[in-house]
Amino acid sequence: MNSTHVRAHRQADGVPTLTLDGLTIQLKTRRGTANVVDRVDLEVWPGEIVGLIGESGSGKSLTAFSIFDLLPKAARVVGGDIRLGARSLVGLSAPGMRAIRGDRIALIPQDPLSSLNPVLRVGRQVGEPLVLHRGSRWRQALARAVSLLASVHLPQPAERAGEYPHQFSGGMRQRAMSAMSIALEPELLVADEPTTALDVTIQAQFLHLLREIRDEHRTSILLITHDLGVVAELCDWVYVMYAGRILEQGPVERIFAQPAHPYTQDLLQATPTVETQRSELTAIPGSVPSPYDTPEGCRFAPRCSRRFDRCDEEPPFFAAAAEHLTRCWLEEDAHG
Ligand SMILES: Nc1ncnc2c1ncn2[C@@H]1O[C@H](COP(=O)(O)OP(=O)(O)OP(=O)(O)O)[C@@H](O)[C@H]1O
Ligand SMILES: [Mg+2]
Repeated sequence: MNSTHVRAHRQADGVPTLTLDGLTIQLKTRRGTANVVDRVDLEVWPGEIVGLIGESGSGKSLTAFSIFDLLPKAARVVGGDIRLGARSLVGLSAPGMRAIRGDRIALIPQDPLSSLNPVLRVGRQVGEPLVLHRGSRWRQALARAVSLLASVHLPQPAERAGEYPHQFSGGMRQRAMSAMSIALEPELLVADEPTTALDVTIQAQFLHLLREIRDEHRTSILLITHDLGVVAELCDWVYVMYAGRILEQGPVERIFAQPAHPYTQDLLQATPTVETQRSELTAIPGSVPSPYDTPEGCRFAPRCSRRFDRCDEEPPFFAAAAEHLTRCWLEEDAHG
């Protein structure tokens, strides 16, 4: 586990790199209208790796896409704010957003093949942001692309830069995507399930790479994953999302040692061991409610083994410890 309590120094850092302030995302489909991400508060501080975890369908990817103004047509931000430093990104013009996207903020997607252009040589794609955003000449950009590919430990970077994405393995593509994402040294990297397509060894190497990027450039990283092992190993801070709401948050060591919310406790129980680490979080009985039919009180109550009358009303956050918050009535009782 990472033991640097970055947030302890936050006053000195001024503002978080990323702030989600009451972020609410509405989904409108034939099935109805629903807030699939509901009043989410989340911060990523400079140099922090923050994990966002939760079962499938909880709203993690929509949260990530909203930061880049890349929400699918059916979804839109209807409340709250997204800030990069002190600057609000909500309602920014399309050209304003394009200038920031890929430059100050970058997304490492789940499937790097679909994000790489199949007909362009890898080196050209990695160097392109430097030409587009920094006015570099192609010659310099291509040379820089090779050194970026070397920095993400791609073997034979100079030769590989001249190849096409289909000539790369999954792990190599992920490295190429990473090189492209860090070309402009963004303040914030958002990685949405960046390792699901990779085998276990390559996964570990990639995660190590993320940490190197953070250590070297003090990049802030928001890491979305199903894999609690990854969170334990890599993250400083964790947010647990369920049915569009954050149910628990705090320093990683604390959350893993003493999870306070029954949902987090169940997630940790369901966490596969090292031997079976590829399996997903499916061991909690029942399933995430449909966004069109979320429970009125605590969203986890219908599946919660410790449910009681109070849970018909949605709990606020209670402090289980300094900086450790849980949205559960049990914590109110714990403190009398
Ligand atoms: N384009 C879309 N059209 C309709 N519904 C969508 C769309 N994108 C997401 N949803 C719905 O919004 C909810 C949140 O989806 P989201 O992709 O953010 O979940 P997630 O937490 O990233 O899940 P996973 O872990 O499976 O990636 C889900 O109920 C999903 O079905
Ligand atoms: Mg997702």
